Amino acid sequence: MSFFSMFRSKGPTGYGYGSTAEDVTEGLSLAGKTILVTGCNSGIGQEACRVLSLRGALVLGTARTKEKASAACAKFPGHAIGYACELADPASVRDCVSSIIADGHELDAIICNAGIMMLPKLEKAHGYELQFFTNHIGHFMLVTGLLGQLTDKGRVVMLSSEGHRSSPAQGIDFDNLSGDKGYQPLMAYGQSKMANLLFAKELQRRFTGTDRTAYAVHPGVVDTNLSRNLGPALRRVLAVVAPLFLKTVGEGAATEVFAAVNPKALSLAGHYLADSNVKNSRADADNKTLAAKLWEESELIVKSI
Ligand SMILES: NC(=O)c1ccc[n+]([C@@H]2O[C@H](COP(=O)([O-])OP(=O)(O)OC[C@H]3O[C@@H](n4cnc5c(N)ncnc54)[C@H](OP(=O)(O)O)[C@@H]3O)[C@@H](O)[C@H]2O)c1
Repeated sequence: MSFFSMFRSKGPTGYGYGSTAEDVTEGLSLAGKTILVTGCNSGIGQEACRVLSLRGALVLGTARTKEKASAACAKFPGHAIGYACELADPASVRDCVSSIIADGHELDAIICNAGIMMLPKLEKAHGYELQFFTNHIGHFMLVTGLLGQLTDKGRVVMLSSEGHRSSPAQGIDFDNLSGDKGYQPLMAYGQSKMANLLFAKELQRRFTGTDRTAYAVHPGVVDTNLSRNLGPALRRVLAVVAPLFLKTVGEGAATEVFAAVNPKALSLAGHYLADSNVKNSRADADNKTLAAKLWEESELIVKSI
């Protein structure tokens, strides 16, 4: 339990800041469920895989390489299978989609958990800023490629972040997706997380009339490998304050797991969630025109790479 959780009350779902992934799945049997989790080898994603497999689900865990994914999944024998999915490499994402289809997996949930944060200098993949490409385009390809495998009641969970509030004033700066016209690490991360949020909301609109649902979540602040780009000084500070002021990894994994499997999440579909409850997002995350434009632009990018 994190120190801060002692001062936080629970929300309307009965869960809150201090709820862990084990808490939000207490009493649930996930036997017979198949759940894909990207970024299975580290941090919050690794904990989500552990708890989902503990409750009986079959986890399809993805990592940048087959070796990494298989090593991570080997910790949950009989309950997890590793797949390679390098999100910055469209060929790898397409191979992942093909393999999952070929292996005949029907997916009860897809948790788009993998991500990178605040690269100090501009890096690009296929001409696009790397955080936008990895966090959004890679997952856009994966999810749209796997919609045919998603069950009728399947859920899609996008890891967004409170960092989405740092995205550019126009939400997504379509004129600077390369980053060539100016690059700020936090704003670029924010834009990628705004894209995750807009994608979840647009997906939910496209699921209208079906029992499929989509969610965007902020996991809370957790000291994981995500901070690797913050520099040694800031990382040392994080390590000191983490036990007092940050969430534990179990608390961090709770909201994505809640959205993916807890029955109480169903009435919250299409919302931005934090601490396993609804949280207000930046207002433009609800801009339908912006979300539709991002979808169209993402399709064009995917076709061109
Ligand atoms: N930790 C926080 O405080 C926090 C706050 C808000 C939001 N989030 C979000 O939560 C999610 C999980 O973060 P975390 O804290 O658990 O970070 P983490 O420990 O760094 O895990 C990130 C995962 O994403 C994978 N990944 C990164 N780039 C990839 C790529 N190009 N292709 C495939 N996989 C890739 C990493 O693989 P490698 O290990 O091989 O790099 C790792 O498995 C992220 O989406 C993050 O934005 C975290």
